[in-house]
Amino acid sequence: MASLTPISQTHSLFKKPIVAATPPPSNFTSNFIPKDFPFSGYQSFKPPRTRMATRSRVVSATTAEKPKKRYPGEAKGFVEEMRFVAMKLHTRDQAKEGEKEVKEPEEQSVRKWEPSVDGYLKFLVDSKLVYDTLEGIIDKAAFPSYAEFKSTGLERSASLAKDLQWFKEQGYAIPEPSSPGVTYSEYLKELSEKDPQAFICHFYNIYFAHSAGGRMIGKKVAEQILNSKELEFYKWDGDLSQLLQNVRDKLNKVAESWSREEKDHCLEETEKSFKHSGEILRLILS
Ligand code: HEM
Repeated sequence: MASLTPISQTHSLFKKPIVAATPPPSNFTSNFIPKDFPFSGYQSFKPPRTRMATRSRVVSATTAEKPKKRYPGEAKGFVEEMRFVAMKLHTRDQAKEGEKEVKEPEEQSVRKWEPSVDGYLKFLVDSKLVYDTLEGIIDKAAFPSYAEFKSTGLERSASLAKDLQWFKEQGYAIPEPSSPGVTYSEYLKELSEKDPQAFICHFYNIYFAHSAGGRMIGKKVAEQILNSKELEFYKWDGDLSQLLQNVRDKLNKVAESWSREEKDHCLEETEKSFKHSGEILRLILS
């Protein structure tokens, strides 16, 4: 399972400018910033358009002022920031770093799932639509930064096509894509043309979720309903951890040119990524 080393906060920020944010109003809440998190009183993830220009200011850490804390994961690069936000949005049943309350069936422990082949097929069909969409967007590269993510080796569309063909040969009827996949695909297309930071958030979450929890789900479901057959969806050419690391490096590089507000905007999109992917995962249990 793909994993990164634990997040460590660095406080030795000498010489480097750091961002100090003015505390938001006392009634400020966020679903993905835990209340007990040291930054939660300081960090606002309001989208750029609604953020007040005066909210952040750059201070020099070389002054006698006590250095302010950085954004969680920031010292390691932007991917670590995205990972931090994503892990908090898991439930404890899903991942040990998770903090979200279980509300939907797919948020329970995978051990408690009762999957059906028909439901799993719907999930694979909708997942294929999402990967077709993502890979088409990257290929077209409406924004030059998207071209960085061509042929990363993480692509899943072709492997899903093989799996659906296998199900067909086993005598299963392949369903048409359903509402969760169609809705997500439309949303990704729209976002990719007008909001690259938000789109990159989905790109990261979709590919990295699949390499982590997704693989665990694939294994458990196969044990329960597919006689442990390993689908192509869960096989990569080459060393997966190296492929993931290459993409992390590229994501970090792309995000280096983003302002703090653009980064916050990207992080803020994580909730939507969980919502859409959760709806597709739920199909397994339908
Ligand atoms: C049943 C649903 C899910 C389960 C069981 C699950 C489980 C996990 C686990 C065990 C990890 C690895 C944690 C570690 O590195 O120690 C993980 C990582 C992650 N998950 Fe999930 N997850 C689920 C759904 C999702 C969803 C819906 C998303 C977002 C669309 C998501 C995004 C991520 C991301 C971005 C990582 C970090 C991967 C990395 O660092 O390489 N997960 N998940």
